[in-house]
Amino acid sequence: MLFTTSHSTKKCHNLLIDYALVGDIKDIKDIADRNRDSLGFIVRSAVSGSIEKKEVLIARYRKEVVGFLIFHQRRDSQVTIYDICVKLEFRRRQIGKRLIEELILESRRNHKSIIKLKCPDGLSANFFYEGIGFKLTGKEPGKKRRLNIWQIDIQKNEENKIMYNCFKLKEIIVPFTREGL
Ligand SMILES: CC(C)(COP(=O)(O)OP(=O)(O)OC[C@H]1O[C@@H](n2cnc3c(N)ncnc32)[C@H](O)[C@@H]1OP(=O)(O)O)[C@@H](O)C(=O)NCCC(=O)NCCS
Repeated sequence: MLFTTSHSTKKCHNLLIDYALVGDIKDIKDIADRNRDSLGFIVRSAVSGSIEKKEVLIARYRKEVVGFLIFHQRRDSQVTIYDICVKLEFRRRQIGKRLIEELILESRRNHKSIIKLKCPDGLSANFFYEGIGFKLTGKEPGKKRRLNIWQIDIQKNEENKIMYNCFKLKEIIVPFTREGL
């Protein structure tokens, strides 16, 4: 179960979550290209546009970019995740979770209430979303595979496990500025 602080859980120490900079595009594109089966083709100019709008978070381990999350803050209350990816050799170290947690904190600051995404059926990422508290709200046809629609309500503090843990996290990590645990 996510957010348990089991000592057996491998964690990535010295992890820094930050907004991506234009200079990070090559690293983001390299990771994305190696995961084309899951992510499809990610266009460099689109990544660049998202970076300019501060809609890309990256995870750095020491100086290496080890993961990224591309999102869009709509004008209404919704935030949409376009892509999330962690380098294969860094998976299952809670990095994806940390990226989502930072997105939730940022979205709450901007008074958003839900985060939504679509994930092709059959990808193991579906277990990730379920594990961190997203709810499956529907399915729709995709180009190649059916798409699962995942959603999390980020305003329901008392009932929402992920936010409860974000508050706890905030006490020990200042988002975007300090190194992690
Ligand atoms: C999805 C992805 C970003 C998850 O990143 P990650 O850093 O490995 O995930 P985390 O370590 O934060 O996982 C948190 C929890 O989610 C669940 N989880 C994550 N990956 C899982 C998997 N493959 N199978 C089952 N559960 C999984 C687990 O509960 C895990 O906690 P645990 O390791 O303590 O059991 C990563 O697998 C990835 O980059 N996949 C390829 C790209 C992709 O498919 N992107 C999504 C497109 S829709």
